[in-house]
Amino acid sequence: MPRNACRGAPIGVFDSGVGGLSVLREIRTLLPSESLLYIADSGHVPYGEKSPEFIRERCRVLAEFLLAQGAKALVLACNTATVAGVAELRERYPQLPLVGMEPAVKPAAAATTSGVVGVLATTGTLKSAKFAALLDRFASDVRVITQPCPGLVEQIEAGELDSAATRELLQGFVAPLLAEGCDTLILGCTHYPFIKPLLRSLVPDSISLIDTGPAVARQVQRLLADHDLLANGTAQPTQFWSSGEPQALQQVLPLLWGDAAHVRALS
Ligand code: DGL
Repeated sequence: MPRNACRGAPIGVFDSGVGGLSVLREIRTLLPSESLLYIADSGHVPYGEKSPEFIRERCRVLAEFLLAQGAKALVLACNTATVAGVAELRERYPQLPLVGMEPAVKPAAAATTSGVVGVLATTGTLKSAKFAALLDRFASDVRVITQPCPGLVEQIEAGELDSAATRELLQGFVAPLLAEGCDTLILGCTHYPFIKPLLRSLVPDSISLIDTGPAVARQVQRLLADHDLLANGTAQPTQFWSSGEPQALQQVLPLLWGDAAHVRALS
């Protein structure tokens, strides 16, 4: 493919569901010339309680699909998929610009003044060896309290960003972290930025909330620049697929993505 054609090719992004839209928004804001493809693997959400083997298989299937659509780069817009599957995808596609994501432990460790950091994430992310290695590397000087949040992803998938049930669930996850003296909370799952306003209303103003979406968008920009693959024309409309009920994603797109769009079924 001539270089110009490659530059105009889309970036493929996937998540277990709607969470990765929080990352997709950051990529769109930073890189408006890039065309984007997005898969919500909603037929298999949540990933948080599934086995690493299962998630690795989903990563293989979704990556292959996006590459078959002509993606020039891939973004795993999911912490849980990254800890399970990014290493294998890097091995499989050594030349491909590939960005995964992990809870923002390093910036949180630098930001805390109380020396206590809380991590809200899925069970799969918190149990992984990759997360343990992240703590060893960047959090040796701070106390890190981890909090798995079962059920929260399902609320966000349903578009319940501010319901009484979501509030009660989140309150139950956050209270122990505040009781331990955390002054910095890491949003370690890409679904959680969508409930940031709710979380903000449940914690004192002095608590910092850190998510990884903007840093991931900057990493995509850096990697594309390194590969001489940054688009310089006009972006094509973003294309969406869901392995669940396309209608369900289509319904929440205006709320979570900011625009309406047609969603195709991914079988
Ligand atoms: N959005 C995903 C993450 O960043 C996982 C949500 C799930 O499917 O459990 O971890």
